[in-house]
Amino acid sequence: MRPKILIARAVFPDVIERLAATFEVESNQEDRIYSAAELAEKIRDKDGVFITGSERMTAETIAAAPRLKAICNMAVGYNNIDVDAATAAGVMVTNTPDVLNQTTADMAWALLMAAARRITESEHWLRAGNWKKWTYDGLLGADIHGSTLGIIGMGRIGQAIARRSMGFDMQVIYHNRSRLTPQQEAHANNARYVGKDELLKTADHVMLVLPYSAQSHHTIAGAELALMKPTAILVNIARGGIVDDAALIDALRAHRIAGAGLDVFENEPALNPAFLSLSNVVLTPHIGSASEATRRAMANCAAANLIAALSGAVPPNLLNAAVDLTLRQGA
Ligand code: GLV
Repeated sequence: MRPKILIARAVFPDVIERLAATFEVESNQEDRIYSAAELAEKIRDKDGVFITGSERMTAETIAAAPRLKAICNMAVGYNNIDVDAATAAGVMVTNTPDVLNQTTADMAWALLMAAARRITESEHWLRAGNWKKWTYDGLLGADIHGSTLGIIGMGRIGQAIARRSMGFDMQVIYHNRSRLTPQQEAHANNARYVGKDELLKTADHVMLVLPYSAQSHHTIAGAELALMKPTAILVNIARGGIVDDAALIDALRAHRIAGAGLDVFENEPALNPAFLSLSNVVLTPHIGSASEATRRAMANCAAANLIAALSGAVPPNLLNAAVDLTLRQGA
């Protein structure tokens, strides 16, 4: 009997075909958002599940699926999955690292430039018919070239962002759980490791690229925003919850910082509506990895992990190497 899998969200049809060559597939091309109860019901008889970062795999959901052996996330971040519960239950968990590094780094720069140079604000103003004449002080923004970029979270994407700063003659400072090797720092535009407070006080612009966890919850809240320069731009391409959105809204409203570029929010997609009335913030709907090539690479990466996991091989992007597969043998 072929293993049964659920593809919990709509995905590229050729990726479904690829998976259907090996598995009995239940797909969701109408892209309905399942409730937690529906998701649990759908995976009750499945050996594997293909999810995106929007589906939550809690301890309860995992416990409701006695045959489940693999959870394959089409995302690099995996805070939507209770990895400890999966490990305790003998379930493999995989993500899609690396394939999105460059695309996501591009997006961080798009947000920084759009916010610093007030691109979306300018476009809204123009479309509203306000452009009657050129003025010396119209829509003045901040320079990016020659400035100091602060990166919090210096993993693969953070380093890809830092490398791009060379073309803008920038200094890079960073804060991270652990310091990079001297070779990695040299390759990341000679990035200099500093404490978080020093970074916030010194950087002209700050980018957040760290994974979400209980420890990184509200890494940027009122006290941190108060340390930043009033001319600074804050970019969040990491996860909602890393920034205290209510505190950021207060800071943007009071012009305690100059602006923000945000791709992720608390309680996505129901972002705090106060953001919508602010002109000094650029808002995008969690599209950091959304280039055609990269989304295809991510979907295929998740599919490859699922195929490996259910055929007895070690999936290339296994997150819980300590998982005891014998716990689900014979299930
Ligand atoms: C996107 O947010 C991802 O984690 O891949």
